[in-house]
Amino acid sequence: MILSKDFLWGGDISATQIEGAWDEDGKSPVETDYLIPGKKAIPRYAYYKKANGEIGKSLQFSGQAPKGSEFIVKENQIYPNHFASDFYHHYKEDIALLGEMGFKALNLTVSWARIMPHGIKGGLNKKGVDYYISVFKELKKYHIKPIVTLYKYDMPAFYITDFGGWSNRQLIQEYLAFCEICFNNFKDYVEYWVTFNEINILKMTLDGNENASQKDNQRTFEELHNQLVASSKAVQLAHKINPKNKVGCMVCGLFTYPRTCNPEDVLASQKYMQDNILIFSDVIVRGHYPTYFKRILNEYDVKLNISEDDKKDLQEGKADFLPFSYYFSNCVSGQHSQEALLTGVTSSEDNKNPYLKTTEWGWQIDSRGLKYALELLNDRYDGFPLLIIENGIGAIDQLEPGNIVHDQYRINYHRDHIKAFEEAVNEGVNLIGYTMWSCIDLVSAGTGELRKRYGFIYVDVDDEGKGTFKRYKKDSFFWYKEIIQNNGIKID
Ligand code: BG6
Repeated sequence: MILSKDFLWGGDISATQIEGAWDEDGKSPVETDYLIPGKKAIPRYAYYKKANGEIGKSLQFSGQAPKGSEFIVKENQIYPNHFASDFYHHYKEDIALLGEMGFKALNLTVSWARIMPHGIKGGLNKKGVDYYISVFKELKKYHIKPIVTLYKYDMPAFYITDFGGWSNRQLIQEYLAFCEICFNNFKDYVEYWVTFNEINILKMTLDGNENASQKDNQRTFEELHNQLVASSKAVQLAHKINPKNKVGCMVCGLFTYPRTCNPEDVLASQKYMQDNILIFSDVIVRGHYPTYFKRILNEYDVKLNISEDDKKDLQEGKADFLPFSYYFSNCVSGQHSQEALLTGVTSSEDNKNPYLKTTEWGWQIDSRGLKYALELLNDRYDGFPLLIIENGIGAIDQLEPGNIVHDQYRINYHRDHIKAFEEAVNEGVNLIGYTMWSCIDLVSAGTGELRKRYGFIYVDVDDEGKGTFKRYKKDSFFWYKEIIQNNGIKID
């Protein structure tokens, strides 16, 4: 038996992608509520109206819209996150199914816009808090531990249009007030917290923007720094409110290989990981920026004002564990295209790995890369507890007569990734759990499609929101149940 008996087997869901009910019970809108669907390699946008009536577009994840503008819902336009999988009204049934699979943990996000919809000024929304307490009670019935992610690109939209987003330091206080409500109100149910989902996404979004100016660089690094400070303050607050709390901050694990053994490619791959992943995990785990941070700031022509108080916060707010997502790997050459790396679609020859197959959405399937990532992080942080949050395959499933779905491709994907992490654990990696994306079908974040399905539980709804919203067990449901029962796969 390699995995400990407390190993956190489970899955992930996120509020904007699964709940629907976008304007119910006092929730205020979030940027995602305004995003129109995209497609493979076509990003999503939100429309806004400026004070002078001009209409503009804001790129997903950028958290940007001009001050004083307003996001708008266009007529005859589909907004998939408005309905999603309607978990808001189906949570009891859904959690019962997770219980049947034997889940030990569920990573879910709680929506800031349900809990504190109008900022500190508006106070707590009791209906929002009560809703999540009901969800946690349901989880408790089935002995499923919640791992609560506090922020996943979903702050109330007015923070973007009125405050100017994360570049405004005031947002740190707002975020902490929201965290405090959660730590206090959910303390009887939650011990695992994640302060930010994929905190490195802003940096990758910046690199994907071909037209980024020095001003954009400056703003993005300020936003990132503010988020890291906010995260470290949240860690401290969580520990103060309940010393039993275990808090992590998640990074998006876009790990890379050199395209060839050309030393330039090797250095480019190393640099890519420093600039996009490790700089963040270094701060989260070690409590300070690494030495190569100076080089990055120079390259982006950015000046950051890091106060002594900020340094102290980063140091005193080190995380207890490091959660990271892992979907695919990429190659990097001296000439790599960073945009291609973020969308996962290997549009450039440089990023393609001839040894790997891809999914229907062009994501390279690479279970060995998960072992590579685990070993790299384990070596770097010397046995620090790691958690794989989010790992899965988006595919088109066929609901067949009798309401069955034969998703052997999904079973293969997870089996190979589980084998890879078991091998790493066997070699000494300190892995505390595996929560796969996404146990229940939901809206794709990147494309807004519902037909890009990840779940072990099928939800009968299409891209336009048509369907019965009934839930069906896929073949992978029964397979994962057995994996959890056996506490893993026996490696020969
Ligand atoms: C992760 C995000 O990076 O990728 C999830 O945290 C997202 O929210 C997942 O759903 C898969 O991406 P997509 O675009 O297929 O939904």
